[in-house]
Amino acid sequence: MRIPFVDLKHQYREIKDELQEAIDGVLEKGIFVGGEEVEWFEEEFAQYCGVRFAVGVGSGTEALHLALLACGVGSGHEVITVPNTFIATTEAITLTGARPVFVDIDPETYTMDTGQIKSAITERTKAIIPVHLYGQPADMLPILAIAERHKLLVVEDAAQAHGALYRGKKVGGFGTVACFSFYPTKNLGAYGEGGAVVTDHEEIAQRVMLLRDHGSRQKYSHEIEGMNSRLDTLQAAILRVKLRHLDRWNQERRERAALYDTLLQDAKGVVRPTIREGSTHVYHLYVIRCTERDRLREHLGNTGIVTGIHYPTPVYLQPAYGYLGLSEGTYPVTERVAAEILSLPLYPELRREDVEQVAGELKEFIG
Ligand SMILES: Cc1ncc(COP(=O)(O)O)c(C=O)c1O
Repeated sequence: MRIPFVDLKHQYREIKDELQEAIDGVLEKGIFVGGEEVEWFEEEFAQYCGVRFAVGVGSGTEALHLALLACGVGSGHEVITVPNTFIATTEAITLTGARPVFVDIDPETYTMDTGQIKSAITERTKAIIPVHLYGQPADMLPILAIAERHKLLVVEDAAQAHGALYRGKKVGGFGTVACFSFYPTKNLGAYGEGGAVVTDHEEIAQRVMLLRDHGSRQKYSHEIEGMNSRLDTLQAAILRVKLRHLDRWNQERRERAALYDTLLQDAKGVVRPTIREGSTHVYHLYVIRCTERDRLREHLGNTGIVTGIHYPTPVYLQPAYGYLGLSEGTYPVTERVAAEILSLPLYPELRREDVEQVAGELKEFIG
């Protein structure tokens, strides 16, 4: 039987009544930009993340871009991040006029290798963007310590990690500011684009609010130049419904992941995800490693199992970043990992027998 990589229709059917009521409420009110639903979602999401402010914006990419702008990052600055991420992380940096500077990733957790940060710092460094990749928090304690010593901002890229915990505290509450994506397939996903910037700093929240809405607090009065990056009212209403289910869905993701872990423990040559001690992973993705990755992927595909690769090419090796002059071999851990990683289907609605089928086919390939 075919096993898709994600199944958004199943989730919709499960909470259809709640969603329809929320959507109808917006349609009845006839307010489609801004309004109470957006404000209520912002309050509820801030509370969920354990921070004072959440500002809804148009996407996760724009959340990162606006957060960096609000923190004063711009031309002449450098921002340290990882090369094993989605291009949005680095696009947000270059959109401000700053330059991305990479440090390699930790071979076990695939998040930032914090031991390499110090040597990447120059007098132009302004911020660090750790990425909570696949739903696993980056190692925030050393990152925060280095940032404090060198007076750097920390912008968490939490696009893949809604609800993940680091030492008992939710991601989003560690950095100067944190950014989330509500792209439909994310752990908390809208039915379209969406994102949020969360922070404890009132002046940063205010600045993002200005930037997302043409620099305007009052209609046709523009304090600064901004842009249009508002969170859609319909999406806010949908996200309010889905937020109520997020912890359960994350728990269900963890249960599916635990079942994969058990079934794959004797699969030779397959490296399962490693969780950093003291962290709670939310498994946006369940990523294994296998040196025969491409052949394995083909085998699974032939049996109807859809997999993904996140990400096949480190960002600095993308044509878009040719101007950085970084050649193959620059970040060896990222490059090795990129050649071996494979994301297996994992979502709350995935059935036990689906996990068993994926694990069974995988083991058959391994032999
Ligand atoms: C790590 C990371 N950062 C940023 C983004 C950008 O989010 P969006 O697609 O909502 O713009 C994504 C989304 O895929 C992501 O995975």
